[in-house]
Amino acid sequence: MKRDGACISLWQAGMSDYKGQQKNNIANKYFDVVIVGGGITGITTGLLLQKAGKTVLVAEARNIGFGTTGGTTAHLNSFMEVHFTQLIKNFGEDNARLVAKACRQSMDLIKKNIEDYGIDCGYGEVAGYIYAQDEKQVKELDDIFEGFNKVGAGVSPSTSIPVRIPFVRAIEIPGQAQFHPTRYIYALAKEFEKAGGVLMENCRVTAVEENEILAISSSQGTIRSKNLVYATHIPPGVNLLHFRCAPYRSYVIAAKLKNESDYPQGLAYDMQDPYHYFRTQEVDGQFYLIAGGEDHKTAHEENTEACFTRLEAYVKKFYEIEEIAFRWSSQYFNPVDGLAYIGHLPGHPQNMFVATGYGGIGMTNSHIAAMTLTDIIVRGKSEFEDLFSPNRLKPVAGFNNFVKEAADVVGNLIGGVFSREKLQSIAEIAPGEARVVKYEGHAIALYKDENGELHAVSPACTHIKCTVGWNAAEKSWDCPCHGSRFSYDGTVLTAPARKDLEIIQLEELVEH
Ligand code: FES
Repeated sequence: MKRDGACISLWQAGMSDYKGQQKNNIANKYFDVVIVGGGITGITTGLLLQKAGKTVLVAEARNIGFGTTGGTTAHLNSFMEVHFTQLIKNFGEDNARLVAKACRQSMDLIKKNIEDYGIDCGYGEVAGYIYAQDEKQVKELDDIFEGFNKVGAGVSPSTSIPVRIPFVRAIEIPGQAQFHPTRYIYALAKEFEKAGGVLMENCRVTAVEENEILAISSSQGTIRSKNLVYATHIPPGVNLLHFRCAPYRSYVIAAKLKNESDYPQGLAYDMQDPYHYFRTQEVDGQFYLIAGGEDHKTAHEENTEACFTRLEAYVKKFYEIEEIAFRWSSQYFNPVDGLAYIGHLPGHPQNMFVATGYGGIGMTNSHIAAMTLTDIIVRGKSEFEDLFSPNRLKPVAGFNNFVKEAADVVGNLIGGVFSREKLQSIAEIAPGEARVVKYEGHAIALYKDENGELHAVSPACTHIKCTVGWNAAEKSWDCPCHGSRFSYDGTVLTAPARKDLEIIQLEELVEH
């Protein structure tokens, strides 16, 4: 199983490629719903819709779980990252209660799926703990505690936490859970296909002609559909939502501990900024401590390897580690007001939908999205529709002109042929390193692979032309603006970009 980075996550290990049903040609076929993206949102939404009687195609550009589902830490939470206290301020108490209700229903749906389909994915219900480590954090924690209780989420003070870390005050949130996310979605994908759904891997959607019946161009031909759902983590193209969601990266290690009794029995979160998070997962009889943190805005950290070093050093202060078996990083999108955007895609016809801006609560939000979108598409409305509406924020003035200009500007390609030798000498990079260099008035993103081969691409992101930065840990070119990511050779890894970075031809030029 492949993922959108060079590091191998715990959820990829031992997962062979998904083996789906034999596919027929989908070109010119009609579906009630086409879902773009085969992560946890796409697969879950597809299953609910197919079970509700719709004909559904899930089109995944790579393999299922390729994006953030393969890189999550799979904490199943009944709360959002922006706590209820803040949600009450932003949206009012009634809406904050509705958020709590949506979270609860999402958790119930995950549990029901696991029970109904007999999914073996290491699911376990545990309590969650948030702990304060100084007086300032204690004040914040008291606020958080009050917010939980105002929405009826039933938390209590706790005198202990499941991690071996000093704390001053803590609260316990019952009814949280954990699981192995890729085993879960592989099983849901099988159920989706069993119910008659069509799942196409290596099917990249490249354009959509917007009409009452959508004509969806893909690498496997044009597909017709009544509805389309972008379950691509962030929608492709240029959309208002790209200016309402900020891309962040988070770092994770999965460690084997020397003492079996040290594995946390619960989910734990400190209150530092960025915060650390901990849990345990048993996979095939082996326990792993999963610890994460060191988050930063995408492409805002020069040395991403150092994020792992700091995280490891922090965990080692408290735990005796036998081996760090896996380490990986992953991307998430923070919404500007604390709630995900689920519903009609702004600026597009009513039959185009989106789910994005999950923050660090992807598992819960994915199932809120699946329930909400299914209700809107099947029944015409959802009780969570207004709450999560992507159109709840007014478009910024002049946005449409901006989109047009931004789209125009991407036509500006570098072209030409550059001397490999000269670039080598300018860049002075060692195997495994990368750099953006200036050469003959052009910016060139260079990566030298482990064999000494130079790969040169334009650093202009094909979304709306911000300059990408190198992510040494995952060996990718990441865009700081809206989170598009590209592999070292320029291939798109994650939306919103649809096109690969321009490849720059390097030749052995002889100078006279
Ligand atoms: Fe928008 Fe790169 S992701 S410019």
